[in-house]
Amino acid sequence: MKRLLALMLLLSGCGNVNTLNSVSGDAGVYSSDLSAARQIIVSKCVSCHSDYAFTTDADWSADPLIVPGSANDSTFFRRLKDNGVDTSQADMPLAAAPLSLSEIQTIQNWINDL
Ligand code: HEC
Repeated sequence: MKRLLALMLLLSGCGNVNTLNSVSGDAGVYSSDLSAARQIIVSKCVSCHSDYAFTTDADWSADPLIVPGSANDSTFFRRLKDNGVDTSQADMPLAAAPLSLSEIQTIQNWINDL
């Protein structure tokens, strides 16, 4: 009986792990972080940067403007207006109001989580 109980615990434990894995697996393909970041990119950047149209984290991660896991090292983040990073180049979005603090943080979190 003890052995059966142990087996049941083990199986239910595995079930939980699998659930977690499948959730994070989905997130890697089209994460909620990316979908939040994309709303900003599409409304504030794509008018000039028509090439900023990637729909997967993998495609963004492969872009030279992004250093996965490090927004502060990513040109894409460094060039944003009012993000506390001075690049001595024109800040983005060019000729428009800066992104809001929460929009800047959304982009930052998304890149940091890649
Ligand atoms: C009004 C047009 C315009 C908008 C809107 C705009 N950009 Fe730009 N962006 C430019 C131009 C022009 C350049 C090239 C000149 C330069 O590097 O300053 C550029 C350059 C960049 C670069 C450097 C690219 C490289 O290859 O080094 C990044 C990164 C960038 N923009 C990000 C953004 C992001 C992110 C947004 C939205 C938040 C945005 N831009 C919105 C016009 C724009």
